[in-house]
Amino acid sequence: MSEGPGRYIMLISVHGRVRGSEMELGVDPDTGGQITYVVELARALIEHPEIDRVDLVTRRLIDPKVDSRYGQQIEELAPGANIVRIDCGPKRYLAKESLWPHLDSFADNLLRFLRNQGRMPDLIHGHYADAGYVAGRLSSLLGIPMAFTGHSLGRVKRQRLLDQGMAEESIEKRYRITRRIEAEEYALDNAGFVVTSTHQEVEEQYALYDNYQPKRMTVIPPAVDLSRFTPPPRSWRNLPKIHKAITPFLEDWARPMILAVSRPDPRKNISALIKAYGENQALRDIANLVIVAGNRSDINELDRSAREVINEILYHVDYYNLYGQVAYPKNHDSTDVPHLYQLAAKTKGVFVNPALTEPFGLTLLESAASGLPIVATSDGGPRDIVALCKNGVLIDPLDTESMGNALLEAVSDRTRWNKWSRAGLRGAHRHYSWSAHVNKFVSTASSAIRMSHKRQRPLSTASRLITADRIVVCDIDNTLVGDKGGLRELIRMLKDVGSRVAFGIATGRSLDLTLSVLQEWKIPTPQLLITSVGSAIHYGAPLIADRGFEQHIRYRWRPDAIREAMAEVPGIKPQGPEGQTEYKISFDMIEGEAPSVTDVVRHLRRSRLQAKVIASHGAYLDILPIRASKGMALRYFAMDWGVGPDRCLVAGDSGNDEEMLTGNTLGVVVGNHDPELEKLRGEPHIYFAEKNYAWGIIEGIEHYDFFGQIRTQEPEFSTNV
Ligand code: GLC
Ligand code: MG
Repeated sequence: MSEGPGRYIMLISVHGRVRGSEMELGVDPDTGGQITYVVELARALIEHPEIDRVDLVTRRLIDPKVDSRYGQQIEELAPGANIVRIDCGPKRYLAKESLWPHLDSFADNLLRFLRNQGRMPDLIHGHYADAGYVAGRLSSLLGIPMAFTGHSLGRVKRQRLLDQGMAEESIEKRYRITRRIEAEEYALDNAGFVVTSTHQEVEEQYALYDNYQPKRMTVIPPAVDLSRFTPPPRSWRNLPKIHKAITPFLEDWARPMILAVSRPDPRKNISALIKAYGENQALRDIANLVIVAGNRSDINELDRSAREVINEILYHVDYYNLYGQVAYPKNHDSTDVPHLYQLAAKTKGVFVNPALTEPFGLTLLESAASGLPIVATSDGGPRDIVALCKNGVLIDPLDTESMGNALLEAVSDRTRWNKWSRAGLRGAHRHYSWSAHVNKFVSTASSAIRMSHKRQRPLSTASRLITADRIVVCDIDNTLVGDKGGLRELIRMLKDVGSRVAFGIATGRSLDLTLSVLQEWKIPTPQLLITSVGSAIHYGAPLIADRGFEQHIRYRWRPDAIREAMAEVPGIKPQGPEGQTEYKISFDMIEGEAPSVTDVVRHLRRSRLQAKVIASHGAYLDILPIRASKGMALRYFAMDWGVGPDRCLVAGDSGNDEEMLTGNTLGVVVGNHDPELEKLRGEPHIYFAEKNYAWGIIEGIEHYDFFGQIRTQEPEFSTNV
């Protein structure tokens, strides 16, 4: 038991349509099992005695095309548990593949929410790659432990699409797969623990990741809502309404029902099931087949793959002449689903999941909880379920003949049917209840929380910069310095505006090198000095080091091991002692021979090392702790001093400035920037100045009216997806 107030868990699940009731499952590919899971998890967690608050954070939508409830900032799920909706880029509904450029801003908006409410979560749990990325950033910034659940993984998806013959480029364009995979790796960099559904997910899926560390993974199988899924009553006063949708198809509905429920997705392998049934006369003689594959009004309006699946059902029914024996109801809603299992159980039927692959298969647990035996693909989820529940058999989804025989046996042996039915029910309650799920989750979370060094400092909403309510933060080389006239003018402007606007620098240089360049160019000592590429913070003058930050960035930092691992990397050579600090290991890149950042990160991750790797000007390579960077240091300062990122104007010219330019900060890229920053053009809140060096900064200050009203309003950012 915990002393004092209970724990506060924050779940993040960015995409899709998330609401507390009447979930719109299946309206699009982003609103499916994950959404149900996170909502139910939030409700189940708050029931746990050690937890007193749960927030489920998702994207806020204001879009006439979707329900206005998705625009509510807070929706209560249960006392203590809320859906919290946070702005993320454009207000309208977007597919998850389009959200990437907006996630830094989403994270900043969420930080503001936390700062305003004054209470910090004890654990941040990211769901899927996008939220894994956001959770990683927040965890990195706040020093709060993080959990990650992938739900499905980019590397697995990419492999599957390649196997199906899709071209690398199309995969990239359609699914932004590289970005997704990097987000997953980043989540793994930061996560204290990873939740998976099955052992197979760990051994076969996460094993594809550079950051594969099975010790950090905990198998916690999903739970089934045991209040929703129950065995059929002894008798119904009125048969459930879905009965009416099925009976018109069937000569005798009371024969054992072979039930399949899935999305109309080719991977669910429904045609093979009809074939198995159609070619097995004995099975046809005693059982019906009921296929519930999504909803449709006009088949021609379905997307291509769904249309193909439905057309194949129609074709196969006709081909095998299965009229009167196979039902494929046109529509159903979520309240019908429990009744489908009950009807099948009532007829002593069986649930079948013939999917080509099945990482989990929640429907199998729903069947078990309804006392309906299962026949399922021998793959990750079904294997774990059948091993624990002993409520059915596994099949090879490609062998239709044995599939048919397995179904026949399942519905013909009454004694065994009863045994399976009872065992499934018992197994679901023992192993797959929400309380079992949450108990395991909370005990894993508690040890992660105990092991973490949570920041103790209170977070204030009031600005601690005594008089200023905004700050200009400039990179030094090639941004602040480079043009004497521009610099002199900028210094004059800052002096004129007075103490309302604070001044800071963020540089790759060490503190010593910074101080000498400041002196050389006669720049007054800034109030904030972020040096060594964001691995040190000082406040001046007199210069005071932020020891808390130093403490904070130590997380997973193993400099000796990194130096050792980097010794093997060709094409780079260590910088001299002026380039090295306790938290920064720097190299010069040899032109034409240096490895890419991606290769270096991959090499480190595969050596079980987590670090941030930043390249600048194609000439420098800096390796820092994962919690360091100019952007992270700036936000650390911003949190601590009560200045929102949207009141920080940041200016830079090269790669190591990138992380402070994205998100809600008001970014300015000077005209003389390195081409490596071109990729930021068009991203929200990043202004590309025409003018060079300090003149570019001045242009940016004017663009945002930064000394006046501050213009952050930009036209709705549109993505090209
Ligand atoms: C500065 C630093 C150097 C670093 C470079 C890029 O030049 O002195 O160590 O690699 O910035 O961040
Ligand atoms: Mg620079």
